[in-house]
Amino acid sequence: MNLFDVYPLNNVTIVKACGSYVWDDAGQKYLDLYGGHAVISIGHTNSHWVKRIEEQMHKISFYSNSIRIPLQQELATKLGEVSGKENYHLFLCNSGAEANENALKLASFYNGRKKVIAFKRSFHGRTSLAVAATDNPTIVAPVNENSNIIFLPLNDIDALKEAFIQNEISSVIVEGIQGVGGIRVADPAFLQAIRQQCDQHNAVYIADSVQCGYGRTGKFYSHDYAGVDADIYSMAKGMGNGFPVAGIAISPKFHAKHFMLGTTFGGNHLACAAALAVLEEIEAHDLIGNAGEIGDYLINELRKLPSIKEVRGCGLMIGIELPEELKDVKKNLLFKHKIFTGEAKPNVIRLLPALNIGKAEADLFLTALKTELTA
Ligand SMILES: Cc1ncc(COP(=O)(O)O)c(C=O)c1O
Repeated sequence: MNLFDVYPLNNVTIVKACGSYVWDDAGQKYLDLYGGHAVISIGHTNSHWVKRIEEQMHKISFYSNSIRIPLQQELATKLGEVSGKENYHLFLCNSGAEANENALKLASFYNGRKKVIAFKRSFHGRTSLAVAATDNPTIVAPVNENSNIIFLPLNDIDALKEAFIQNEISSVIVEGIQGVGGIRVADPAFLQAIRQQCDQHNAVYIADSVQCGYGRTGKFYSHDYAGVDADIYSMAKGMGNGFPVAGIAISPKFHAKHFMLGTTFGGNHLACAAALAVLEEIEAHDLIGNAGEIGDYLINELRKLPSIKEVRGCGLMIGIELPEELKDVKKNLLFKHKIFTGEAKPNVIRLLPALNIGKAEADLFLTALKTELTA
């Protein structure tokens, strides 16, 4: 059997990783500023994370949600503390798409409505409703097409208000910073308007924090920059540092009913151990502060460089938009300078490194990029 060929691949085989570095099968070292798509939050093979998972494996790795799993409550308590949303409730699942699917479903159970506002350039995942709320028709199969989704321009408060006047809205789903869409920041005033409209119309504000959450931007949820709470926060990527775990943090206004949401694998013992290790590392080493500090440094330095069209983002979620003639820079960073970065179409380099990256790594990248821009 061969693999179903859905991923365009870089011709690199990584066999070893530590912190913000990875090595290929020829022993070549690379700086990883991509983190496997914003997933590596506390560094590859972090020793506390490895130890926590290993110790848990010797006890029990999995049992279903038909028994008590105290690690789940331990995780919920720690997440409440670190995120500052102590009165929220946690539902655990396995991926970002599943988190958003459950968030949209819960909103609809809550107010009995169907219409969802999503935004142009959004990406919310590939399950049926999450993909329908994703602004990319090429990944929406006919069976996923859904007339309940209303796409609006990001940061357009008038369009938002008009959509609320014209429709009975169940929920608004918004990334604090659009990732796949090219690192586009939702204005704080826009998120405040979403909060206000949702309150006025009994709709649900869903903060998709799958990519921009978990401390990456210098606050636990990037939506926190707006100073208003969402009703549901979805999270995934950085949550397990590579161990598949995801969840939604649910405001106390929602009341749980048995069987309303569910999953086989979600919240298993190993996933909870991995997620706890991540939060413990974030807390012990103030990684949210570090993300803000190194992110500010990088953004300021990048804004001084020539030829860049725009630098967008916040903390360690940074988009560098380049002109068309510099379309080879990302490839050169990887193959000439041995630095992994992410991309967004048409020509945006995305930086999504581990939250404990140092200034030395930031400088390595800046030097390599300068070389490319002035070549
Ligand atoms: C903002 C956002 N939401 C949801 C998802 C989907 O997450 P997953 O691939 O874990 O299903 C992604 C993945 O890139 C994402 O960036």
